[in-house]
Amino acid sequence: MQNFIVTTARKSKADSGILAETFARNLNLKFVPRADFSLDALKKIYRVENILLIRNNFPVIVTNEGEIFFHPNTAHLRIKNLRQGLGDRLIDAAKIQAGDKILDCTLGLGSDSIVLSFVSENVTALEINPVLAEVVRYGMKNFSDDTPPVIDAMRRVEIVTADYFDYLKNCAENSFDVVYFDPMFRHGIIKSSGINPIRPLADNRPLEIDSVREACRVARRCVVMKENSRSSEFARLGFKIAGGGKYSSISFGVIDS
Ligand SMILES: C[S@@+](CC[C@H](N)C(=O)[O-])C[C@H]1O[C@@H](n2cnc3c(N)ncnc32)[C@H](O)[C@@H]1O
Repeated sequence: MQNFIVTTARKSKADSGILAETFARNLNLKFVPRADFSLDALKKIYRVENILLIRNNFPVIVTNEGEIFFHPNTAHLRIKNLRQGLGDRLIDAAKIQAGDKILDCTLGLGSDSIVLSFVSENVTALEINPVLAEVVRYGMKNFSDDTPPVIDAMRRVEIVTADYFDYLKNCAENSFDVVYFDPMFRHGIIKSSGINPIRPLADNRPLEIDSVREACRVARRCVVMKENSRSSEFARLGFKIAGGGKYSSISFGVIDS
């Protein structure tokens, strides 16, 4: 995990240094003044593969695969669709209603959490990678554009840096209405997937039956999992594939509690 340093973009605003130091402190990482070094030079000097860079007062994770930064991504279009009454496959599969209490066990870049929060207004989202969690937490609190429903939804998401199994074990029975998992897909990397940038940082372990059992104990109504439509994970873990998205490469599985 310490395979990171924190620095600023070369020509950054004065307060970027303060923000970079705050990220470094929160994540227990080393802050390195940028001076005139290239990022490659800094990686060599400090023997790290990844850099958390503060650019224009926003955090950007630079890995060997490219850059990762917070953006609502597909949440924009999905919320637009919901507002027009067109529905959303996750919301429909989980039958999410206003007032539901949702536990999203796999935050990633947070698009699903934002959409869930738009409908239910009560989402707790877990992410095991602390840098990803901190970057998305900052983004959800500070990102701004001209779409108030999306911004309001993201501001309401509560992000917790945690392993979902540990977190679930400490939750009371029926303490959420719905528990949702979107693990990294086992097979068939979808090239166009918006999730590809986070692959170097994401926890790739498969969802285990013990976590599903805990989720069933914690969920009052249902547990939902997203996976590749052809995945054997649905059968292995006991999920029944929800209808809809007949021609989609992605499916949602449901276990009713
Ligand atoms: C496919 S991504 C989720 C994408 C997300 N639904 C979205 O809309 O952006 C899966 C995420 O779950 C995280 N993850 C995997 N195992 C986890 C665990 N045991 N506890 C918490 N988070 C985990 C990964 O690090 C990764 O960021």
